[in-house]
Amino acid sequence: MLTLGIETTCDETGLAIIRGTNEILSNQIASQIDLHRPFGGVLPELASRQHAEVIVPLIDQTLKEAKVSLSDLDLIGVAKGPGLLGALLVGLNAAKSLSIALNIPFIGVDHLEAHLFAALMGQQVATYPALGVIASGGHTNLVLCESADKFKSLGETHDDAIGEAFDKVAKMMGLPYPGGPEIEVLAKLGNPNRFHFRPPIMKEAPFSFSLSGVKTKVLYTLFGQDFKGHVKPIEYQMQCDIAASFQKGVFEDLIEKSLRAAHAFGCQTLLFGGGVTSSQTLRSLFEERKGSLNLLWPDRVLSLDNGAMIGGLAAHLHQNGRAGDSLSLTPYPRGSFNSASFN
Ligand code: KG4
Ligand code: ZN
Repeated sequence: MLTLGIETTCDETGLAIIRGTNEILSNQIASQIDLHRPFGGVLPELASRQHAEVIVPLIDQTLKEAKVSLSDLDLIGVAKGPGLLGALLVGLNAAKSLSIALNIPFIGVDHLEAHLFAALMGQQVATYPALGVIASGGHTNLVLCESADKFKSLGETHDDAIGEAFDKVAKMMGLPYPGGPEIEVLAKLGNPNRFHFRPPIMKEAPFSFSLSGVKTKVLYTLFGQDFKGHVKPIEYQMQCDIAASFQKGVFEDLIEKSLRAAHAFGCQTLLFGGGVTSSQTLRSLFEERKGSLNLLWPDRVLSLDNGAMIGGLAAHLHQNGRAGDSLSLTPYPRGSFNSASFN
């Protein structure tokens, strides 16, 4: 069975051809990073226009690389949310049009569920219940997974996502978007113990996150508590120390909460997804602390947004009896995991 996966939730147009549920024949990603960089973040209207411009040629390129033609396809998988509505509509309309033209089904899949499926696309096998850990530019979630497609939300961020906080702290220091990789590089030359930037543990929501306080603390450390919007250049060693201390505080918070959740819900396997989980530093810190836990990291390319995880999850659902979606399917901006929860 051949599936075309389509991802257009944010600022990457991702197209892939998957054989079965995890053999990736091609995986094309057109990143819009250069387009959004001057604005220090993603501009939704620009994102949808760019998706509309590149999606058709990228489908052609993806088919060519996989050495298949449109008529060989059996299924289309498409991200239906959460994400930017205009951007999602481009992918969804492409999926619907191809579904009509080729007379094959299409299945809309949740982008965050697909991030967790990406961790299952290698040779690795998960035991259930497993703990899903998602950390990206738009989302931070801890999720109890009963299987590859049954979930219960344990906690999420109450304000900024982890990647978003990295991007904003980088912006404060005049570093380019996306900030995560920039901070990881600077942090290697910094003192992680110079500042204490540890997000809080909330008693009533122990598996949830809040990054806004830490972000403000970084701002005050950089520019003083009477900051009135006048950004000044930051000395290099100070930048490195801020980067190292911020990265340490935020990652330790994520690791601590993940390990506690795994313990509380009897999970032996942890599945990771989202751009932040491509961080080598995060991977090393988790590996040091894992004890007997089984950590399943997606291939680094599959940590970021991509069409392969969308196609893979759609194929998995189809194999397990999910029929195609109707043409009336609409995208959603937020709200993963709660609809498909188990008790
Ligand atoms: O999953 P993704 O590609 O897109 C979203 O769905 O958001 O994640 C992008 C995010 C950005 O915020 C970026 O700064 C962050 O992932 N990121 C990192 C690292 N690499 C990417 N954050 C921390 N450390 C990294 N090495
Ligand atoms: Zn994502």
